[in-house]
Amino acid sequence: MPVSAEEATEHATDRETSVETSDFRRDVLEGLRAREKAIPCKHLYDERGSQLFDQICEQPEYYPTRTEIAITRDHLGEIVDKIGAQALLIEYGSGTSEKTRLLLAAHPSLAGYVPIDIACLHVQEAAEQIRDEHPELRVEPLCADYTEDFELPDVNGDARRRVAYFPGSTIGNFDPEDAQDFLARIAETVGAGGGLLLGVDLMKDEQTLRAAYNDEAGVTAAFNKNLLRRMKRELDAELSVDDFAHEGRYNPGRGCMEMHLVSQTAQAIVIGDEAFSFPQGETIRTERSHKFTRSGFARLARRAGFRVDAVWTDADDLFSVQYLERAA
Ligand code: AVJ
Repeated sequence: MPVSAEEATEHATDRETSVETSDFRRDVLEGLRAREKAIPCKHLYDERGSQLFDQICEQPEYYPTRTEIAITRDHLGEIVDKIGAQALLIEYGSGTSEKTRLLLAAHPSLAGYVPIDIACLHVQEAAEQIRDEHPELRVEPLCADYTEDFELPDVNGDARRRVAYFPGSTIGNFDPEDAQDFLARIAETVGAGGGLLLGVDLMKDEQTLRAAYNDEAGVTAAFNKNLLRRMKRELDAELSVDDFAHEGRYNPGRGCMEMHLVSQTAQAIVIGDEAFSFPQGETIRTERSHKFTRSGFARLARRAGFRVDAVWTDADDLFSVQYLERAA
């Protein structure tokens, strides 16, 4: 049951150590039992993982964040026009980003702003900060897992329409069928006349992609290996962090980047009374990040009930910000 972030804050610590840890245990065990070992990428984002991700965004090789900010800045007027007067802006994610700040500062007449995030304390704090900066804006944080069904608080007020905001190309982390279902759910949430503003990372040469997921400073490696530390800490896993190596790999069949933890020796991970053996070279896949062509993404959007209304890109076509309209 989704609750308002205010209600949830009191119990947020309990939730984060019980519900999230048991999800984590279940997903890790299931993932390590599989023929192709894989753990869902959402588990990369514990507190340390979130800090490391913020550092990834500052690495010279990691082009998406800085490019999306530049596109947003360069086309801010048109983007704000697309969002339109008296729109209720619903952000899928915490709303602490520089991109959100740009939109909120430039939009003259939002009817309200609803950041949604599963990290209750985080979304509550983000909302407080935004209220401080925009005392006139109605801010209603929602503590929920936005990949599941949730109910919006009664925030419509005098809103004329709803526009969802989903920056960061996080849409690329879903498998294609899940991406379509997720977009279709957003279409339902924004309703007739609604829209979706989102970041979509574009297909490009392999070298640029591989560099972005294997930065020289080793921050992405630390981010990936933090998952092993989290397994030790939260699941009492017996494993040797140093016997796994990070690899960002291009998967040409799927058109995505993948993060793997590659076993450097023949070894086992032990959790409770289960042992998972790794021959040298076997990997745990920890993330897929799909890259899109414009037409490929337009097709996906169409299947989900959206029509692509505007696409903004940088001069090198590295990344795109897109505005989708819910098809009538
Ligand atoms: C924020 C999830 C879109 O897939 O590029 C960065 C995460 N992984 N470096 C991405 C990530 C490795 C990022 N997303």
